[in-house]
Amino acid sequence: MIRFEHVTKRYADGTTAVDDLSFEVAEGELVTLVGPSGCGKTTTMKMVNRLIEPTEGRIWVDGQDIADTDPVRLRRRIGYVIQQVGLFPHKTVLENTATVPHLLGVKRAAARARAAELLELVGLDPAVHGDRYPEQLSGGQRQRVGVARALAADPPVLLMDEPFGAVDPVVRERLQSEFLKLQSEVRKTVLFVTHDIEEAVRLGDRIAVYGQGRIEQFDAPATVLGAPATPYVADFVGADRGLKRLSVTPIEASDLEQPPVVHLDDPLPRELGARWAVVLDRDDNLHGWIAADRAAGGTGTVRDHARRMEARLPVGASLKRAFATMLQHDAGWIAVTDPDEEGRFLGVLTPAKLHEALRRSIDADAQAVRRRDVDLENVG
Ligand SMILES: Nc1ncnc2c1ncn2[C@@H]1O[C@H](COP(=O)(O)OP(=O)(O)O)[C@@H](O)[C@H]1O
Ligand SMILES: [Mg+2]
Repeated sequence: MIRFEHVTKRYADGTTAVDDLSFEVAEGELVTLVGPSGCGKTTTMKMVNRLIEPTEGRIWVDGQDIADTDPVRLRRRIGYVIQQVGLFPHKTVLENTATVPHLLGVKRAAARARAAELLELVGLDPAVHGDRYPEQLSGGQRQRVGVARALAADPPVLLMDEPFGAVDPVVRERLQSEFLKLQSEVRKTVLFVTHDIEEAVRLGDRIAVYGQGRIEQFDAPATVLGAPATPYVADFVGADRGLKRLSVTPIEASDLEQPPVVHLDDPLPRELGARWAVVLDRDDNLHGWIAADRAAGGTGTVRDHARRMEARLPVGASLKRAFATMLQHDAGWIAVTDPDEEGRFLGVLTPAKLHEALRRSIDADAQAVRRRDVDLENVG
């Protein structure tokens, strides 16, 4: 969908910002460009929508050499989100979001209806936020409007240049997970620039790690963390990359343990067969848990003695979230539910199983590294 062929950019003062860059981004793929400040990420990005022209080489978007396209037309097919957002201060949120469809000749009512849909898509209520002005929003909300506006013309390609860089870490994490969910629905081809390796790892289908004007490694997040291609990359991803793996390793159904289960309306059992049991409602959705000592002496039904379970996550959530959730609720285990069937209980994740899952992920990488060594031997 996006292809760079031996692209070099030298600025007038002689700075080589991008040096003989070649890579490809597949349709529907989200590639993060990560590297320290000044390594050429923004330059790379701006060459895709021709805000900057390459000195050498060619860039293809959707099978077309962009040097042969009209820049204005090209930009209509490419959504662009930047950190400073660039919303019009004197226009409402709804008007800001409707700007592009409006420019493209969509009738006012239709453009506003589309804008309202997009605001909902990015987690803003058009009835609440639509008529506000940008200054009446929080930083995180402005960033969401920026994303909605970039999606308004339904472009196949999105360029995002440190879009979540200006918000605090908690909001950033929320924006990231919302964006991932959004991307799983809209499946745009995305180039996402960040200087934050954690963000790159979390969002990217693949990551391009930049050195000075060059890509040092272009691989899946787990491979970059598990098998850094060069000492530079190893240094950049950091000594705590084992910890970072937590955020790229999902909880799988096979990681779960099956504790005893009772139902809310069951008469109180005298024996649970364990120190505690999980409590489900009539539809097998998670309600909470019950302790064996409460059950042993009590009367009535399970409902009268059950406690709510706050430490819960959907299957597929990262091990990092699992770990954080355990710490937050001071819980020895986490209830894991089915994300598709609201709340259906699947099993529990224990610290021992969390550790096993992390090992599984690291071992998978070690194998990938061995495979690579074999490939290199064949080449040699
Ligand atoms: N218009 C410009 N003129 C000259 N040098 C520039 C210009 N824009 C960027 N640079 C230089 O090019 C290099 C790459 O910049 P940039 O692409 O903005 O990096 P990044 O986005 O990774 O921080 C830096 O050394 C920067 O100073
Ligand atoms: Mg930049």
